[in-house]
Amino acid sequence: MLVANWKMNCPPAADWKAAVKKLAALKKEGIETVICPPFVSLEKIAALLKESGVKLGAQDVFWEKSGAFTGEISAEMLRNAGVEYAIIGHSERRRFLGETDEMINKKIASALKAGLTAILCVGEDSSVRRRGKKAAEKFVKNQLEKDLKGLPDVKSQKPKIIAAYEPVWAIGTGTPDTPADAAEMAGFIKEILNSKFRIPNFSVLYGGSVNGKNAGDFINSPEIDGALVGGASLKPEEFLKIAAAAGAKR
Ligand code: PGA
Repeated sequence: MLVANWKMNCPPAADWKAAVKKLAALKKEGIETVICPPFVSLEKIAALLKESGVKLGAQDVFWEKSGAFTGEISAEMLRNAGVEYAIIGHSERRRFLGETDEMINKKIASALKAGLTAILCVGEDSSVRRRGKKAAEKFVKNQLEKDLKGLPDVKSQKPKIIAAYEPVWAIGTGTPDTPADAAEMAGFIKEILNSKFRIPNFSVLYGGSVNGKNAGDFINSPEIDGALVGGASLKPEEFLKIAAAAGAKR
């Protein structure tokens, strides 16, 4: 699975026409591609993706259905706009907007209720990582436990929740994690989700400075099921290189 997180950028939809056709062809090989544009571009990108098999995703959801919540957009509204996936708990929201695990927990519950697949982002920052791998694992475990706490019938949600391991220090820095360390953490996340939440075959993506050159090193690991891509997802030709690396794994 490849998820394009366009963040607060709107690449012209017309530039993506040919790329969407190529991504659609990969769908036949079992590779799911999701494009997550800013809210204001959802309609335009939905039209572009129509009947291509490439899925539409949102970068966030709000947990209430409707009401006096200025600036927010509910999971249900997104579902009605053709959205099937939602990135939840991205570190940029945790850091810059004060999003807490409690808020993320509510967002996941509302996304699942609306029928969206939640892409839950977890990952340690550099201060935690400096304390070593065990500290990073403990940090990520704590995030997972809080973010997924008490979700109604989480066992039956497969494949409605996907985790993305995104070490904060690797995001947008041009310095990705090593494929070996990322794979180890992905394996650790799978173990926790399996034992604690009894979700078998849980998909874990890696995100953080993935590009056309290094994507294969991550995606080829059996523990890593795909990539969540920020900067390199803004240019169709670069994203297609990443998609080609995913295709080569099959
Ligand atoms: P990046 O971002 O690929 O630009 O590092 C990844 C993300 O934030 O999801």
